[in-house]
Amino acid sequence: MTVLVTGGAGFIGGNFVYHMLGAHSDYKIVCVDCLTYAGNMSTLKVAMENKNFVFYKTDICDREAIYKIFEDEKPDVVVNFAAESHVDRSIENPEIFLKTNILGTQVMMDACRKYGNIRYHQVSTDEVYGDLPLDRPDLFFTEQTPIHTSSPYSSSKAGADLLVLAYHRTYGLPVTISRCSNNYGPYHFPEKLIPLMIANALADKPLPVYGKGENLRDWLYVEDHCKAIDLIIHKGKIGEVYNVGGHNEMANIDIVKLICQKLGKSEDLITYVADRKGHDLRYAIDPTKIHTELGWLPETKFADGIEKTIEWYLNNKEWWQTIISGEYRDYYEKMYGNR
Ligand code: NAD
Ligand code: DAU
Repeated sequence: MTVLVTGGAGFIGGNFVYHMLGAHSDYKIVCVDCLTYAGNMSTLKVAMENKNFVFYKTDICDREAIYKIFEDEKPDVVVNFAAESHVDRSIENPEIFLKTNILGTQVMMDACRKYGNIRYHQVSTDEVYGDLPLDRPDLFFTEQTPIHTSSPYSSSKAGADLLVLAYHRTYGLPVTISRCSNNYGPYHFPEKLIPLMIANALADKPLPVYGKGENLRDWLYVEDHCKAIDLIIHKGKIGEVYNVGGHNEMANIDIVKLICQKLGKSEDLITYVADRKGHDLRYAIDPTKIHTELGWLPETKFADGIEKTIEWYLNNKEWWQTIISGEYRDYYEKMYGNR
């Protein structure tokens, strides 16, 4: 079996590559990634030594190059992680989000159609459901919750989801979609909340909390997300959407305080800054469908996952320090300099 993974040099895609190489030692994993600012070959260093792994530095919007890869590699399954993934960047510059997240998805699905109606899985997000109020803990996103987006990022992901379902209905492409909550774990790019706070705390730099820090996110250890996708591509029902989440809601401020405590840093580093425009209040996934239909349950408790994550960042300083010493510095200044 050959599984083509796009975006494998990024956070979740990279973890998925390692999960698949470990869980299916007879599979070939073909990774396609154009290495944007968020893609790191150092993430794939160990995978590159595996004879079952091959890497193509290719843009998913480059139709000709993608078709050539399909001709050469003949994938049985495609899992599309490649995306622009950071909400704050989408607020600054929506265009690349529409291009990669929607048109790139179209190219990948066209290739699946052209080369034999190949099984296609779209990695989507709970953000397509918009947000929930903070004072209604009884409400959750189900697969029936209407699409209702807030940011250019979530709108681009929702656009892609609709296109995926349209390709299923119109052309009979065998698709599935997973909509997952916030992931955390190794190889998480340090522009996102948890790794950014770990990196800043270790450097005794201010910890920039948007607004009052009350917004709730439903955190899932990345390995659990990878296992969910593995299950869906093998046992998921064609044409279906699966929500993935672990009922682990936490306010941003509590996460930041926990990181301070774990690293032995003072909470005085916490700095409240201007809120994100259109900031979603609460995400909360109801994972009943994937549990009852496919038997998936999260295995890593947050208390263990955050320990493992902090330990990983402490043991892999070179990975993230290389990132934050490069163009990331300009990004950080632009985003946080006058906030
Ligand atoms: P990431 O930003 O860490 O990685 C994205 C990867 O895609 C990078 O390696 C980048 O180089 C690559 N890429 C970007 N544009 C590309 C293009 N045009 N062609 C080829 N490669 C390209 O993202 P992530 O956090 O790992 O997210 C992966 C996927 O999971 C995304 O689709 C995202 O929407 C979805 N998702 C993320 C989360 C989360 O918490 N991070 C939760 C749910 C869903
Ligand atoms: O829910 C799934 C989504 O989770 C994915 O689809 C996205 O790709 C992923 O980036 C993530 O989106 P969020 O916007 O929730 O993640 P982020 O880490 O950017 O922010 C988490 C929360 O922390 C959010 O409420 C904003 C807040 N925040 C973030 C940063 C970077 C801060 O308060 N300060 C910060 O510096």
